[in-house]
Amino acid sequence: MTNVRLFTAGWLLMVFGSCVTLKHAAPLHTTLSQAFAGDFMIGAAVNTAQFEEKDTAAAALLTQQFNAVTPENCMKAGIIQPGWSNYNFGEADSLVAFAAANKLAVNAHCLIWHSQLPGFMRRMQDADSVRQYFINHINTVAGRYDGKVYSWDVVNEALNEDGSLRNTIFRQKLGDGYVTEAFRLAQAAAPHTKLYYNDYNIEQPQKREGAIALVRNIQKAGVRIDGVGIQGHWNIYHLPLQEIEASIKAFSSLGVKVMFTELDISVLPDPPHLAGADINQQALYSKQSNPFANGLPDSMQVKLADAYAGLFRLFLKYKSSVGRITFWGVNDRQSWLNNWPVHGRTNYPLPFDRQNKPKAAFYAILKTKQKP
Ligand code: XIL
Repeated sequence: MTNVRLFTAGWLLMVFGSCVTLKHAAPLHTTLSQAFAGDFMIGAAVNTAQFEEKDTAAAALLTQQFNAVTPENCMKAGIIQPGWSNYNFGEADSLVAFAAANKLAVNAHCLIWHSQLPGFMRRMQDADSVRQYFINHINTVAGRYDGKVYSWDVVNEALNEDGSLRNTIFRQKLGDGYVTEAFRLAQAAAPHTKLYYNDYNIEQPQKREGAIALVRNIQKAGVRIDGVGIQGHWNIYHLPLQEIEASIKAFSSLGVKVMFTELDISVLPDPPHLAGADINQQALYSKQSNPFANGLPDSMQVKLADAYAGLFRLFLKYKSSVGRITFWGVNDRQSWLNNWPVHGRTNYPLPFDRQNKPKAAFYAILKTKQKP
């Protein structure tokens, strides 16, 4: 009931207050990062147009609402190291400069991942070359940004759904110990940077066990790991609140921080057989797969607001274990979920809409900070 009222208030403000600024539209006179300042960082994934301030509206919203940023793509291997001795630091450097100028923490993403690799690396056959690439990449990239970024996702998505190690090129050529080795190299190259393991679905019991085993192996080897990032690409029709709670407890009991690193809640139907958030999955477009092409009905806005409120209540309950909540995008227009796993849909997964206006979800998230 409260949420309905809250939603209605927000909606009326959005409709009738379309010429007022966001600051005036927010009834609680605060921003996301201010509201949760004593609890955890609030981040967003950013694209080049945003941190180069070509998209001025999104850049303004970003600096107003968030205190942490994750590069959506520009620090991934395919972009930052397109050739053996060819590094392209231009965009990453601009991101770091933008973040410093606006006092935003940078959560760098990501050093070792089997997706978005450069062509020269994907074609590598011999183990020695892969090992050399692995060492050079971590040393050069993590070394360059040590002291300039707050954290690195050192390894991204190393696990299968059953918790076993995914058979990536790194595992094939370097063996099961490659995850620990990546952390060992990152620790030496970036001694002032927090080091995280990041993956999707690691709130699910089997995969969670796999992640726990990875963390334990790293710790047993005497290597530093500071946190685990649960990506949080969820769907409104099955938000796994109980599993998330169990995972916060399980990971924090290992002595590491828990981050929610890529939060978004899809409001569209998942194609059958979709497993997790592997970017290589694609399903065919159909009209039924894109039910809200002309706008999100109020009933769905309320559902999304309720889902976010439930999540943030949980995050607050465990705020001593949770270090950061990062949304995977500043606004709905930017969201990768408009093109994944089906190309060309219209999704609404974030607290800000396509015009950078706060949605009911934004107000519901802020509301979790009010005393009952
Ligand atoms: C996505 C980006 O949002 C897209 O722009 C890109 O085309 C593909 O990758 N898990 C991750 C992120 O760790 O790096 C992915 O980002 C989304 C899934």
